[in-house]
Amino acid sequence: MKTDGVPTDRYALIGYPVSHSRSPFIHGMFAAATDQNMLYQLIEVLPGRVTDDIRSFFDLGGKGLNVTVPYKGAAADTVDILTTRASDAHAVNTIFRDDSGALVGDNTDGVGLTRDLEENLNLTLAGQNILILGAGGATHGVLGPLLDRKPSAVCIANRTLERAAELAARYLGKGHIHVSGFHNIGRGPFDLIINATSAGLSGDIPPLPPEIIHSQTICYDMSYKSGGTPFTTWAQEHGVAMAHQGLGMLVEQAAEAFFIWRGIRPNTEPVLRALRENTPAKTL
Ligand code: ATR
Repeated sequence: MKTDGVPTDRYALIGYPVSHSRSPFIHGMFAAATDQNMLYQLIEVLPGRVTDDIRSFFDLGGKGLNVTVPYKGAAADTVDILTTRASDAHAVNTIFRDDSGALVGDNTDGVGLTRDLEENLNLTLAGQNILILGAGGATHGVLGPLLDRKPSAVCIANRTLERAAELAARYLGKGHIHVSGFHNIGRGPFDLIINATSAGLSGDIPPLPPEIIHSQTICYDMSYKSGGTPFTTWAQEHGVAMAHQGLGMLVEQAAEAFFIWRGIRPNTEPVLRALRENTPAKTL
């Protein structure tokens, strides 16, 4: 790439912590493949600093930010404008400036998940009985796009039942949504079970009754870990049809952010293959 005299466009991921993130690797591969003059850094932002740090990144000429845990909600409160999908999710993972100079917050997590499920894994979501484990930020980001696919029903199971109920209430009329705790998950077995809890980060899985699966059930963990997550290991031990980790979602949400920033849709397949050859620790 010829970059003589042309300033490099700066992008970054903010979060806490961010040191294990693979996003610089992913965006580095996208940039090289599409001949873009850009740099993607990691910025660890201390609690309480997120609003100031987002604004100063752009004031100092930065072109775009990704936002990861625990700041997706704070980022939504900081930007000037939210896209519909960020507003629906109450969470922002991608920020850019529009032509008027306003900071726009978007959310590419939902499209990242649905693209991985539908395009990389060839799954059909319409008519499926889906169970989502967890009702935190990760579930907020993906529930709307999943419901858009018209599954037969979505059950949200969460340790804290009220959080699941609050989330479901925001999507009233947008599909058949049920909520439950983990011990009393009814309405199964499920065709697709998505783990959106952070339990795996501490080596745990929610206490799941085996009746939630049948022999054709597909399990998907939004997290990933070398050798398998606690949830994908549980799923395999219980004989599900397939258990996938969330590397594809990570790459697809990054590709959507790259498209927003650069106007080019990168090929995700080589990046996903490179990551699979060296599966990293989790930080989206
Ligand atoms: P994030 O925004 O990163 O998703 P979060 O909002 O704290 O983080 O949500 C984490 C999710 O994982 C929640 O659904 C949480 O359950 P609670 O709402 O009851 O807190 C769930 N979670 C975390 N640790 C868990 C564990 N050990 N077992 C089961 N669920 C767990």
